[in-house]
Amino acid sequence: MLDLLIQNATLPDGRERMAVAVQEGKIVEVSSSLTASAHQLIDAQGMLLCPPFVDAHFHMDATLSYGLPRVNQSGTLLEGIAVWGELKPELTQQALVERAMTYCDWAVAKGLLAIRSHVDVCDERLLAVDALLEVKRRVSPYVDLQLVAFPQDGLLRGAQGPQQHMNNLKRALDRGVDVVGGIPHFERTAEQGAASIRLLCELAAERGLRVDMHCDESDDPQSRHVETLAYETQRLGLQGRVTGSHLTSMHSMDNYYVSKLLPLLAEAQLHVVANPLINITLQGRQDSYPKRRGMTRVPELLASGINVAFGHDCVMDPWYALGSADMLEVAHMGMHVAQMTSQSAMRECFAAVSVNAAKALGLQAYGLSPGCFADFVLLQARDPVEAIRLRANRLMVFRRGKLLAQTPATTCQLHLANRPEQTCWMV
Ligand code: FE2
Repeated sequence: MLDLLIQNATLPDGRERMAVAVQEGKIVEVSSSLTASAHQLIDAQGMLLCPPFVDAHFHMDATLSYGLPRVNQSGTLLEGIAVWGELKPELTQQALVERAMTYCDWAVAKGLLAIRSHVDVCDERLLAVDALLEVKRRVSPYVDLQLVAFPQDGLLRGAQGPQQHMNNLKRALDRGVDVVGGIPHFERTAEQGAASIRLLCELAAERGLRVDMHCDESDDPQSRHVETLAYETQRLGLQGRVTGSHLTSMHSMDNYYVSKLLPLLAEAQLHVVANPLINITLQGRQDSYPKRRGMTRVPELLASGINVAFGHDCVMDPWYALGSADMLEVAHMGMHVAQMTSQSAMRECFAAVSVNAAKALGLQAYGLSPGCFADFVLLQARDPVEAIRLRANRLMVFRRGKLLAQTPATTCQLHLANRPEQTCWMV
């Protein structure tokens, strides 16, 4: 007897009336003609069953701290970094853990079951590192939390000096942080940015770790650190294990240069993460009009065969006042900013917060095929485009075949003459 059988589901690839069978936490069969007895039987009623959402880029140490110790008045990246610097001495491990745990509750409720979070390693005490390692341990039964050692103040620029910052970063990795981070465009000079990339990629190669750098988060078309990141990836044999996050300067770059750059990124098998909500908010702040959108060139990257994921980046922190762990909101904004309005492009936006993000994180056994973990979300929508349009309700969220969260279907009762009694925004 099966543990769980979901029938009459629509899958993201368009297959309808599908059954998904689960045994011992794994998917054992996906088929259109499956009848078997199961301990738990669910009729999906034609709704979309998809693998869980994955956030490829987040800052869980800063989340839910909005207004502490003050609000970012200018709304810029740089004032956000300054506000975070003011908050750091006041942080306590307990408060960090509590805020992160609350965020993970929100994530589960939204079907977001894997998150890559950067964690600031510039604090000598590694307070945030220890807090997020504790959170990672606590949430491991229900969320895969991957941590990136992130030198927020710059590896070579930070006040404690390069040696100390590198030591902090190595100590964070020793304690169990998974991925090597960086912020080359924030170093003092372009040369120092390139040097930081070399040092950090060498460290990752030495330790067999993945790399995910904040890279070229700038409107400056001359911010070209991604070419160094691709070069070091190739030189050190890290292909497929390196992510360039943000890459917003690509928005402002000369088209000729981008035509040279794209094949280099593809050759290095670089993953790219755009953060639509944050990029549209933070970039272009020095522009009058026209104001640049400041998101990287998502359709062109995809057309070059490069894996592109979307990240939430921030929720209620010094950089962004809004958010609720809803990756469909991220996909919705990404679709608008990148003008990805065709049916296939909108589906690509859905992939950017699910399968593409899972690929960037290197998640194993992710998906809706036999042998994959029985992790999935039943949405109140019939296909990925409708899911983005409605930022659809997560009716049920499963991990390893166990129900983690449930939201009742949303229906609005109408009190109108000669009109239906209710609507749920579907035609
Ligand atoms: Fe970030």
